[in-house]
Amino acid sequence: MFEEKYFKNNENVPLKILMLLDGISDGFFVLDPDDHVVFINEKAAEFLVLDKQEIIGTNLNEQSINQNIKNFIAKARTGSLRIVEEIGEDSLSSWLELEAIYYEGLLGLVVRDISERKEAQNEQKNSYESIRNLNTHMQLAREDERASLAREIHDQLGQRLTGFKMEIDYILRKSQPLESFVTEKLRNVIKQIDRTIGTVRNISRNLRPGILDDFGLLAALEWQADEFTKTSGIPVFFQYLGEERKMDNQKVTAIFRVYQESLTNIMRHAKCTHVNVMVSFGSKRIVLEVADNGQGFDPEILKNQKSLGVFGMKERIESIGGRFEIESGIGKGTKIKLEMP
Ligand SMILES: Nc1ncnc2c1ncn2[C@@H]1O[C@H](COP(=O)(O)OP(=O)(O)O)[C@@H](O)[C@H]1O
Ligand SMILES: [Mg+2]
Repeated sequence: MFEEKYFKNNENVPLKILMLLDGISDGFFVLDPDDHVVFINEKAAEFLVLDKQEIIGTNLNEQSINQNIKNFIAKARTGSLRIVEEIGEDSLSSWLELEAIYYEGLLGLVVRDISERKEAQNEQKNSYESIRNLNTHMQLAREDERASLAREIHDQLGQRLTGFKMEIDYILRKSQPLESFVTEKLRNVIKQIDRTIGTVRNISRNLRPGILDDFGLLAALEWQADEFTKTSGIPVFFQYLGEERKMDNQKVTAIFRVYQESLTNIMRHAKCTHVNVMVSFGSKRIVLEVADNGQGFDPEILKNQKSLGVFGMKERIESIGGRFEIESGIGKGTKIKLEMP
């Protein structure tokens, strides 16, 4: 039953105030405990697509209004003092924000058009996504370039150097007798060529470790750990669980690069005595953890600093569907954990 009593007060509300309520740009309406419309202003009627004159005194639930709005009203009835919700649907002409205020059985509802805000949010999201896509694309291009450079340097330069070496070797063996200082010079040249071949291999490996493509991620991670120990003197305890399965090349590369970056960070910042690496291959995902027992740092510094190492690691993993976390604290060591489906 629609109770007249709520109108009693309204009669005392000066007409000018009611007119003012009609003029505001937000919608506002009031429901009695049985969802009868006690008051509704112009804007609310417009947002709910209702006829203002016909709706007063009727039960709102019996009107054909958007189901989400009905649900919202039902939820507001369950007692929370003030709730806010955004509703956007094809059946509505715009995005609406509903706010409910509950007072002694009366439910006051404010309806706002938030289309502009939503549009701005959307644009922001779209441009963020574009940047992320562009970044992923550039990573791929960069990895491709590195891989082909690595191959070229290794094959072309390496082969040519080996060629020189063989020629000199030939001269040494076949054109006897040579003056002893010539022999010595040529031997020296061979030594230098050998050293250069070593350098070429290193450059090529740094650009892209062939082991990654030839023997897979696990082998490459172990190899990189050995390299790390060789240069830093810090031992790495390497453990793995499960069995490695073939994984998308982009993901393998991302995991490997982030791992390299985390080892570089350890070398540069950690001051630790050992590193633990744990790789586990599950049926649905791979998890990699790299932990050091070094000095650690306050993770707050990652929020306002210029170096983008950790940010780049997180972005690289998350942009291709993985998860990345870094845990640290002063005096507590540092641990990175990444998961890739
Ligand atoms: N393993 C670690 N041990 C101690 N501090 C670390 C470690 N990794 C990162 N940090 C701290 O986090 C900061 C940010 O790291 P990063 O973003 O890679 O930048 P950068 O290495 O260029 O300084 C570092 O400057 C360092 O203070
Ligand atoms: Mg770094």
